Amino acid sequence: MKPLNIGLIGYGFMGRAHSNAYRKVNNFFDLEYQPVLKAICARNAENAAAFAKKWGYESVETDWRKLIARDDIDAIDICTPNNSHAEIAIAAAKAGKIILCEKPLSMNGPEGLKMVQAVEKAKVPNIVWYNYRRVPAVTMAKKLIEEGRLGKIFHYRAKFLQDWTISPDLPQGGAALWRLDVKAAGSGVTGDLLAHCIDTALWLNGSMDSVSAMTETFIKERKHTLTGKKQKVGIDDACAFLARFKNGSLATFESTRYARGHKALYTFEINGEHASIAWDLHDLHRLQYFDHKDEGKLRAWRSIHVTDHGGDHPYMDKWWVPGLQIGYEHSFIHQVADFLAGLAKGKPVGPTFRDALETQYVCDAVLKSARTKKWEKVKQ
Ligand SMILES: NC(=O)c1ccc[n+]([C@@H]2O[C@H](COP(=O)([O-])OP(=O)(O)OC[C@H]3O[C@@H](n4cnc5c(N)ncnc54)[C@H](O)[C@@H]3O)[C@@H](O)[C@H]2O)c1
Repeated sequence: MKPLNIGLIGYGFMGRAHSNAYRKVNNFFDLEYQPVLKAICARNAENAAAFAKKWGYESVETDWRKLIARDDIDAIDICTPNNSHAEIAIAAAKAGKIILCEKPLSMNGPEGLKMVQAVEKAKVPNIVWYNYRRVPAVTMAKKLIEEGRLGKIFHYRAKFLQDWTISPDLPQGGAALWRLDVKAAGSGVTGDLLAHCIDTALWLNGSMDSVSAMTETFIKERKHTLTGKKQKVGIDDACAFLARFKNGSLATFESTRYARGHKALYTFEINGEHASIAWDLHDLHRLQYFDHKDEGKLRAWRSIHVTDHGGDHPYMDKWWVPGLQIGYEHSFIHQVADFLAGLAKGKPVGPTFRDALETQYVCDAVLKSARTKKWEKVKQ
């Protein structure tokens, strides 16, 4: 097997999810490449050393520029807050590194375009971690649509609901709460949660033409962890938007961090001429499917447990015996497996930076529409 030396930046939530994926992928998938946990990079040397010990990284860096300058690093994995993605990715591309970047690609479309230009100029393989594409039930939804089973698509409906920012005492900014600080996050639920819904939607249902959105910031001021002072909150706490897809279908999207009782309720439903499908992250191994072509007396929503083998249920033959399910972390392992397989063949694997730029343009149009209170075209 060929080693692929990984330099991963940021040891938070995603740093752990990706490290886990690199460690497990070759145990379950037959691949030409094997990721090697060469270096972890974080600003705090002590914490980085503890992370390296726990996850098996060979070395530690405290400055991502030094990591990128190292000849023994093949791929840079960006697991830092959104405001650092562009600078790191552009520098990594210039250094000829393979890049795996967390979502959202960038703070906004224009910044994302510079990243796309950098990786395309340097001709470096690149991918963005919109991992939900690789939950087997979601991958299967893609297959069913591609097989034409739904026919013409009329409706796309997606939601991503959470409830963790309702307290006005929750501060913004700093290590764990950068998502509430617009300077670090770029936007609120739009770039954080809806970006996932948008990526899945573009993948399953094609490009969007235009959007009409509303956003709200329920808590207007929060103490900033770094300054200790109350500061204006610049993120959108909630966002709902209507969209027209280029295939003529109509869509609704909603996301909030104020839906008491919901922790990470990502759901989507697609209604076509012949059939409908629905998926729910809280029950992620199931795909709900309704087929109008079924015999009348048996016609009903089927709840498909996407855990079977024989090539029918995506990725599942790589895991346990049929009927036994897998979870959230496996979507990252699948992404690494697909990326490494693409690398061996010299083929790009989506979502590439260019694919993720399309999501960024939708986010830009959504945030613009919320300001102008008008329908806005999505930049193509
Ligand atoms: N794909 C997904 O489902 C998913 C889920 C969560 C987060 N994300 C994305 O992953 C990224 C990171 O989010 P997270 O939840 O892991 O955040 P986190 O706060 O848990 O971790 C961020 C890490 O980055 C480090 N960091 C910040 N600036 C740095 C710098 N200049 N140099 C080195 N390290 C630095 C922090 O110390 C921390 O270890 C974000 O872009 C986020 O949107 C994606």
